[in-house]
Amino acid sequence: MTRQAIVAANWKMNGNLSLVKEMVSGLKQVTLASNVNVVVCPSFPYLAAFSAESAEQSLSATICLGAQNMSEQQSGAFTGEVSSEMLTEVSAKYVILGHSERRTLYKESSTLVASKVTKALEAGLIPILCIGESEEERISDQTETVLASQIQPVIDAIGIEKFSGVVIAYEPVWAIGTGKTASPEMAQETHAFIRQYLANESQKIAQKVPLLYGGSVNRGNFEQLFAQTDIDGGLIGGASLNVDEFSVICSAA
Ligand code: G3P
Repeated sequence: MTRQAIVAANWKMNGNLSLVKEMVSGLKQVTLASNVNVVVCPSFPYLAAFSAESAEQSLSATICLGAQNMSEQQSGAFTGEVSSEMLTEVSAKYVILGHSERRTLYKESSTLVASKVTKALEAGLIPILCIGESEEERISDQTETVLASQIQPVIDAIGIEKFSGVVIAYEPVWAIGTGKTASPEMAQETHAFIRQYLANESQKIAQKVPLLYGGSVNRGNFEQLFAQTDIDGGLIGGASLNVDEFSVICSAA
């Protein structure tokens, strides 16, 4: 079975309107393999601009828009928050949830992340659920326990069947923005664990869920990582801010 492959750009708190235009123009030149979707996730203020630019340049529908976070609330007095419906209104199709920077810096618990995943699915968004262990957890052999503790609350909240509408991004925290990438073998071993964890609930669903690797992916290492059996693409930070580099990764994925 050929799974959906995804190359997603997480711009984090970087980029500007010029980068939006340059990225749309750059991606317009890229030919994607038939099973590949590209997702660009700029900051909230640039979502509508990205949609408008994509429409103006008639960008392929396989190059989609995503947000980097959203509220678990529907609407109301939640200053500074952005709802799932606001995202769909500006044509976002994906939303990154539970990124390690949200979990660490903004204290988002796995239970909160599970509520956000539920809300995103209700609105028709595809959540990119981020999970990953810290360096200390990897060294003390806690990786699988940590990943399970991040996945299980989501299974409890939505049920395994709805995982067919979820993407998981495995991002070892120690590899994010550090230049230290997991070796392809280590990444494959961990992705295989994640798939098996889902398979314990449903083999059918486990085979469908795209599993992305994130953490210092760049033009020099993506091919070996993406070639692994259980790696279906990547969630890319720093290298996604460079139009040429990101285009190379998308076109060869
Ligand atoms: O979500 C992407 C990410 O956290 C990885 O960032 O800069 O290491 O590619 P980077």
